[in-house]
Amino acid sequence: MEYKAPIGVKIDLETGVILDAKKLVRRLSDLKGYFLDEKAYEELLKDDPVVYEVYAIEQEEKDGDLNFATTVLYPGKVGNEFFFTKGHYHSKADRAEIYYAIKGRGGMLLQTPEGKAEWIPMEPGTVVYVPPYWAHRTVNTGDEPFIFLAIYPADAGHDYGSIKGKGFSKLVVEADGDVKVIDNPKWKV
Ligand code: PA5
Ligand code: NI
Repeated sequence: MEYKAPIGVKIDLETGVILDAKKLVRRLSDLKGYFLDEKAYEELLKDDPVVYEVYAIEQEEKDGDLNFATTVLYPGKVGNEFFFTKGHYHSKADRAEIYYAIKGRGGMLLQTPEGKAEWIPMEPGTVVYVPPYWAHRTVNTGDEPFIFLAIYPADAGHDYGSIKGKGFSKLVVEADGDVKVIDNPKWKV
C-alpha cells in the first residue's frame, strides 16, 4: 500500500492566501453574461477589475479524497448587483460541500435544479453546509474582501454550464442602502 503524505498549510487569515496553492484569478471579463445590468457591466469592463481569486489544494479526482480552497471575493457592484462567484453545480451532482467564512461579509445563494433558491448570510465563523444537488454562489455584500474556505470531495468537479446560461432565480442587490434578495427578472425554469 502506497500512502499519500499528509499536508499542513496555513491560511493567511488577513489575505486568504495559501502559499504553494494553485492560484486562479477571475476578472470581470471572465463573467460576461452573468450580471443583469449589461450597460453597467460594459462600463466597468474598461478597468476589468479582479472579482475573485481562488487558492486551491487539489487531489486527483478520486472517490473518498478531499480538496480545499480559499476564495478572496472582492467588494464591488455591477449596477446594483453585488460582485459574486460564477456559481456551479457539482459535475457529480450528489457531492456536498462545506464553507467556512473567515473575513468580511457576504452570503451564499443556493439553488435546486428546479430553481428553488435559498440565501444564507455569512460572516466570520459562519459554516454553510451545501447539500448534494444544490448549485452554490457566494456574494460579497460588504466593503472589504469576503474570504472563506471551501472543503469538497475530490471527485465533485465543477459544472458551470447551467448557471452560465440561466443564472440563479434570485439576485442579491443593494437597494436603499440595504442588501435585498430579489427575483431575477430574466429567470426561466
Ligand atoms: O469549491 C467551491 O465551491 C469553491 O471553492 C468555488 O469553486 C470558488 O469559491 C469559486 O467559485 P466558482 O467555482 O463558482 O467560480
Ligand atoms: Ni462547489
